[in-house]
Amino acid sequence: MKIEIPRECERLGAVQIYGLQKVYELDSGGNSGRADTSHNDVIRSIPSEALYERQKNMAIVVPVKNERLKLIEGVLVGIPHPCQIIVVSNSPRGPVDRFHIEKEAITNFCKFTNKKVLVVHQKDAAIAKAIEMAGYGELLGEDGLVRSGKAEGMIMGTLLARWLNNKYIGFVDSDNYFPGAVHEYVQEYAAGFEMFDTKSTFVRISWNSKPKVMENSLFFAKWGRSSVHSNKTLNLLLSHFSGYETEVVKTGNAGEHALTVDLALNLEYASGYAVETHHYVNIIESWGGILPPNEEIVHRDKVTICQIESRNPHLHESKGDEHVEDMIDASLSVIYNSPLCPELLKREIAEDRALRMRLEKPEGIAPVRVYSNLSNLKLDTFLEHCEAAFSSESESLSLV
Ligand code: GDD
Ligand code: MG
Repeated sequence: MKIEIPRECERLGAVQIYGLQKVYELDSGGNSGRADTSHNDVIRSIPSEALYERQKNMAIVVPVKNERLKLIEGVLVGIPHPCQIIVVSNSPRGPVDRFHIEKEAITNFCKFTNKKVLVVHQKDAAIAKAIEMAGYGELLGEDGLVRSGKAEGMIMGTLLARWLNNKYIGFVDSDNYFPGAVHEYVQEYAAGFEMFDTKSTFVRISWNSKPKVMENSLFFAKWGRSSVHSNKTLNLLLSHFSGYETEVVKTGNAGEHALTVDLALNLEYASGYAVETHHYVNIIESWGGILPPNEEIVHRDKVTICQIESRNPHLHESKGDEHVEDMIDASLSVIYNSPLCPELLKREIAEDRALRMRLEKPEGIAPVRVYSNLSNLKLDTFLEHCEAAFSSESESLSLV
C-alpha cells in the first residue's frame, strides 16, 4: 500500500493525534519482484507481506443485529484470510431463530474458505458468567446477560480477541454492501500499525465518500451527518486546550477502527453509538495531562491516533433519520458530560442542539451509560472462565 505520511499532528500530554492520511495505491507491490522503494519521504510504500504479518495477529470483530445474510457474507468475503474473525450477533432467537440461520450460513462459508471464525451470540450465558466472575457485572442487564447494543457487542468481541491472544483488534460493520471496501479497511488497519508501531496505536478510517441517490443521480457525500457534529465539537475541545484552532479530528464517529488490544483493555466504553466519540474523549481524559492522573490507569509513553482516508465508497443499510439524530445526541453527550468540557463549549453544544431539534431554549444533554475502564475486569479470571465456556459446547458460542 502506498500511503502519505501525516502532514500535521496535535499533541496533548501523551496523546498524539495525526492528521488524515491519503492512500495513493491500495497495493504497491511485495518484497520480492519489482517493489517500489523509490522516490520520496512523504509517501510510505508498505509491502503486502508486511500488511499480512500484522493481520496474522489481528482479530476483526463483526457486530451483527438482524442484517441480511448476503450482506454478512459479503463482509466476511472482504476480510483478509490471515485475520481471526469474531462475529458477535445480537439477532433474535425467536420466533424465528435468526442467530441459528446466521451460524449455519457462516459455517457453510467457512467450509469453502477455511477461514477462522468465532461466532458468538451476545446473550450467551457462559460468557456472561465469565464476565460476572471477573467482576465486570456492570456490562450485564437484569437478566444476567450482556446488555444489548453495538458497544456492548464490541466489548465482548474485545475480550474474546484477547482470549485468542490477538495483538490487534479491528471492527467492521456487517451491513456493508461492498466486500472491496471491507478489504480496504482491514488493509489500512494493518498499514496504520505498520507506520505507528507502538503499544497504544489507534487507527481510524474516514470514508472518502458515501454514495446517495439525489434527484435521480448519484451524489458522493463526503461527510456523514453525525460525523460533522462530533468532529467539529471534538476539534473545539482540542482548540480550547491548545489555544490554536484545529481541524485535525476527522474520525469522531469512525465505526471502522482498529487498536492494539492492550489499549482496548485500558479504555472506557460508552454504550450504543456513543462509543467511538467517547474513545477520543476518554483517551484525552486519561492521557491528555489535563485531569489529575488516575492511579488505576496504566501510564503510557504515548497514545497515537492515526486517521486514514479510504478510497472505496462506503455504502451500508439505510436505517432512517431518527436513528441519525439519536447518534448525534449520543456522540455529543459524551463530550458535553466529560469533566474536560469547558462551560463555553457546553453552552455552544446546547445552543446548536436547540436549533437542530427546534427546542424553545437550550437545555443540557443527559449522560449516556459509560462502562468503566476495562482494566477493572479481572482478566485472568475471565480467561479461565472463558476457556470453560468454550469447552461447555454452548450452542451460542462456537469456533468454526
Ligand atoms: N452485536 C451487536 N449488537 N451488533 C449490533 C447491535 C447490537 O445490539 N446493534 C447494531 N449492531 C450492528 C449492526 O448490525 C451493524 O453491523 C453495526 O452494528 C452498526 O450498526 P448500524 O445500525 O448499521 O449503525 P450505523 O450504520 O447507523 O452507524 C455506523 O456508523 C457510524 C459512523 O457513521 C456505526 O458503526 C456507528 O457506531 C458509527 O458511529
Ligand atoms: Mg450501518
